[in-house]
Order: sequence, then structure tokens, then C-alpha cells
Amino acid sequence: MKHIGTKELETERLILRKVRLEDADEAYKNWCSHDIVAKYVLWDTHKSVEETKELYKIWVEDYENLDTYRWIVELKSTHELVGTIDVASKRYLRFDVAEIGYCYGDAYWNKGYGTEALKRVIKYLFEEVGFEIIFAEHSTLNPGSGKVMQKSGMKYEGILKGRIIDKDGIRNDIASYSITKEEYFS
Ligand SMILES: CC(C)(COP(=O)(O)OP(=O)(O)OC[C@H]1O[C@@H](n2cnc3c(N)ncnc32)[C@H](O)[C@@H]1OP(=O)(O)O)[C@@H](O)C(=O)NCCC(=O)NCCS
Repeated sequence: MKHIGTKELETERLILRKVRLEDADEAYKNWCSHDIVAKYVLWDTHKSVEETKELYKIWVEDYENLDTYRWIVELKSTHELVGTIDVASKRYLRFDVAEIGYCYGDAYWNKGYGTEALKRVIKYLFEEVGFEIIFAEHSTLNPGSGKVMQKSGMKYEGILKGRIIDKDGIRNDIASYSITKEEYFS
């Protein structure tokens, strides 16, 4: 498989494009500073916009590497920035396996954006990049994320016991979902 990097993608309602430094202010305002968004993820709520700017500087530089797959999600209608979706970890790339992560501002939840973006990213990673397996994991206390995975064609694989501690200090199980190339093209 040959990595080709983050290309701009489009869906009916969304543009998925590379993160820019100037996106940090809006990203901070719309999701990075919201405790409710960060409750079940592996990153902490940003305490200041400087934190978001620092992160986005690293992310922008990382686009030099063609094994970086990370999009900011923009609404076509208003150009509001609503969230991000990425191949969250590079540790399985050598096996042509992509681990997906995503987060969206709470003002934009339950409108189907998470599913619309994930479906498009799965299509890109299988049809244009050539991954073998795409997987994603979520806290069992965050079932909406599992719903996004299911609606995007991923299948439930199992539970990883007590793998994370949420922002209330509660240890959570993780549910793991995946879709293989064979399943996608069948
Ligand atoms: C989880 C998340 C990505 C979902 O994004 P979204 O844009 O709201 O997703 P969609 O609108 O495409 O689909 C959400 C589905 O979950 C369902 N849902 C939401 N909350 C739910 C809950 N508590 N229990 C069961 N289903 C739930 C919705 O009803 C919807 O399903 P439907 O279309 O059948 O009605 C979003 O809430 C988010 O970014 N959360 C914070 C960050 C995060 O948790 N990231 C994922 C870490 S694994």
C-alpha cells in the first residue's frame, strides 16, 4: 500500500479538508474547550486557545508525512467548523490497518454529520489509499459513537475490559468495531 496523504473530500453536506492554523480559534470555541466533548476521549479539554494553536501547528506540520490522514469537517452551507476525523494512531499503519478517531462540537450532534464523514473517510481509505482493515473504538458509556460506527458499516468485534477512565474518574469498557476490505467491497 502506498500512502497518499489527506486529500480534500466532499459529501452532501460536508467538506473534509486539511486542518489550517487559522482554524484553531473556531475549533477551540466549537469543541476543543467543551468538557462534554472530551468526556470519553483520550485528550483533555483545552484550557486556552493557545493549546489548540499548539496542537494545530503540529498537525499542519504532520501533513508533510503522506501517512497522515486528518480532516477538519466544515459545513458546506455555512462554512462553520464542526469537528475533526482522522486516522488517530500510526501504530498499525505498517500492517495497512487504520484506527479512526473523531469528535464534533455538541451543538452539531445527532444531525448525522458523524456518520456522513466516517462513511466518506472509509470510502477514501479503502478505495483510494488501499487499507486492509479500518477499526474504531468507543467507551461503552458513549453509545452514540458506536451507533456512528454501525451506521457506517463497521461490525462489532468485542469488548476491551476497563481500558479507559473517563473524565468523571469512572473506569470504562471499550467496544471495538471494524470493517475489512473484503466486507467493504462485497
Ligand atoms: C459520538 C459522536 C461522534 C456522534 O456524532 P454525531 O454527528 O452526533 O453522529 P450521528 O448524528 O451521525 O449519529 C449519532 C447516532 O447516535 C445516536 N445516539 C446519540 N446518543 C445516544 C445514546 N446515548 N445512546 C444511543 N444512541 C445514541 C443518535 O440517535 C444517532 O443515531 P440515529 O441516527 O440512529 O438516530 C459525537 O457525539 C461526538 O463527537 N462526541 C464527542 C467526542 C466523542 O465521543 N468522539 C468519539 C470517541 S470514540
